[in-house]
Amino acid sequence: MGKLKIFDHPLMHHKLAIIRSKETNTKQFRETVDEIGALMAYEVTRDLPTENVEIETPLAKTTIPMLAKEVVIVPILRAGLGMVSGIQQLIPTAKVGHVGMYRDEETLLPNQYYFKVPPTINNATVLVLDPMLATGGSVAAAVTLLKKAGAKDIRFVGIVGCPVGVEALQKAHADVDIYLAALDPELNEKSYIVPGLGDAGDRLYGTK
Ligand code: PRP
Ligand code: URA
Repeated sequence: MGKLKIFDHPLMHHKLAIIRSKETNTKQFRETVDEIGALMAYEVTRDLPTENVEIETPLAKTTIPMLAKEVVIVPILRAGLGMVSGIQQLIPTAKVGHVGMYRDEETLLPNQYYFKVPPTINNATVLVLDPMLATGGSVAAAVTLLKKAGAKDIRFVGIVGCPVGVEALQKAHADVDIYLAALDPELNEKSYIVPGLGDAGDRLYGTK
């Protein structure tokens, strides 16, 4: 089973409070999601494989570990896009794929409308981004598509999840590690996370 890591850090709690508040406007919401993405990137990449590389400083030759594998970031559109630039601050060389997915309001099932990833994805560490893990359907479907495209080393990076979504993702893809900033208790009757933060896409882009 992949690991489940929930962040427990004062900066994360503070930033989560900002994006959860209904008083937070689009600009501040977007900026704070970005900051959360950057904070998460540090922990999510802690065990990335490295290889020793010989370099020459101005004073001497030395051997230093450097990243051994390419990193590919894959936001699930739309809301996952809000986490990209924060993660790119820490991994500027990462390539970016995109999966377009929206949850049908009636059936709650994910519908795919776009898919484009780098051809090197089979040898990369893939970070799938989506702020919300509700029923887990959207992320599980995105991971299935990424595996079909050849991805083997996949981690999910979300902001708010709930036990139902975590279980669904673990059941569908037991090999995927899950990183969340918060695990909320439940879903409401419309399968929104409670207390959650509302509709992440609408809050990022001001569409409601
Ligand atoms: C939201 C969210 C996830 C999905 C989570 O996207 O960003 O992708 O719902 O729900 P699930 O875990 O039950 O599948 P939405 O479908 O609203 O699309 P948007 O990002 O374009 O607003
Ligand atoms: N999608 C969201 O944006 N928020 C939720 O709480 C659930 C699904």
